[in-house]
Amino acid sequence: MERVMEQSEDRSALIEELEAQRAEVARLSAEHGALTERERLAGEIHDTLAQGFTSIIMLLQAADAQPDPARHLALAVQTARENLAEARALMAALSPAPLDGSTLDEALVRLADRLGEEAGIAVTFTVHGESRPLPPSAEVVLIRAAQEALANVREHAAAGRVDVSAAYGPRTVTLEVRDDGHGFDPSVAADGYGLRGMRSRVEQAGGSMRVRSSREGGTVLTVEVAE
Ligand SMILES: Nc1ncnc2c1ncn2[C@@H]1O[C@H](COP(=O)(O)OP(=O)(O)O)[C@@H](O)[C@H]1O
Ligand SMILES: [Mg+2]
Repeated sequence: MERVMEQSEDRSALIEELEAQRAEVARLSAEHGALTERERLAGEIHDTLAQGFTSIIMLLQAADAQPDPARHLALAVQTARENLAEARALMAALSPAPLDGSTLDEALVRLADRLGEEAGIAVTFTVHGESRPLPPSAEVVLIRAAQEALANVREHAAAGRVDVSAAYGPRTVTLEVRDDGHGFDPSVAADGYGLRGMRSRVEQAGGSMRVRSSREGGTVLTVEVAE
């Protein structure tokens, strides 16, 4: 019995440590990340996709002037295939792990379930409207926001339940994370790196974010992104 308790203490210490490391990584990447990442991506796009498209255009133009264009056309097709593979690899590198191979809804369900299992909080996940795939950049923003919002519920809210929803409107998608914890005063509490980073990601993607919170009513975080 004692052993089991020790193990579960070890486990929660480990989870705490992992959370702290995750927060630190998020903080550092929010600080340094955006610019460096953009430069890196610009470089990669230049070296792979842009050069590939240039070759494809040249090959097609050359083919146009040939009596027997087959060889140039075959090379153009091959380059286009390679470009497609590069584009997929770039997108995979940009996708957060939870989105790897799953839809946004599936990823949100998994995040919510994990909070339920690990923190013993009652969690629901609801979809409003018709789910659809969004541009990867919008999905990344929403999944990162959900991760941070759920981490905040676990760390700060002392909540008994949390309701997560995704509402698919005609041109926008809204993520809501609502907890029944003790809340805070968003105008007083200086945003930590979590909320600040979230806001800048959301705004960079042309979306908006809102936090409503009260001591009695818990906290509702909404993130809306347009397509
Ligand atoms: N769901 C929540 N319930 C209660 N307090 C919260 C919640 N979310 C955020 N807060 C408060 O807002 C502060 C800032 O949050 P955040 O920017 O994520 O930074 P951090 O989590 O690193 O403290 C938290 O320290 C906490 O006081
Ligand atoms: Mg936080």
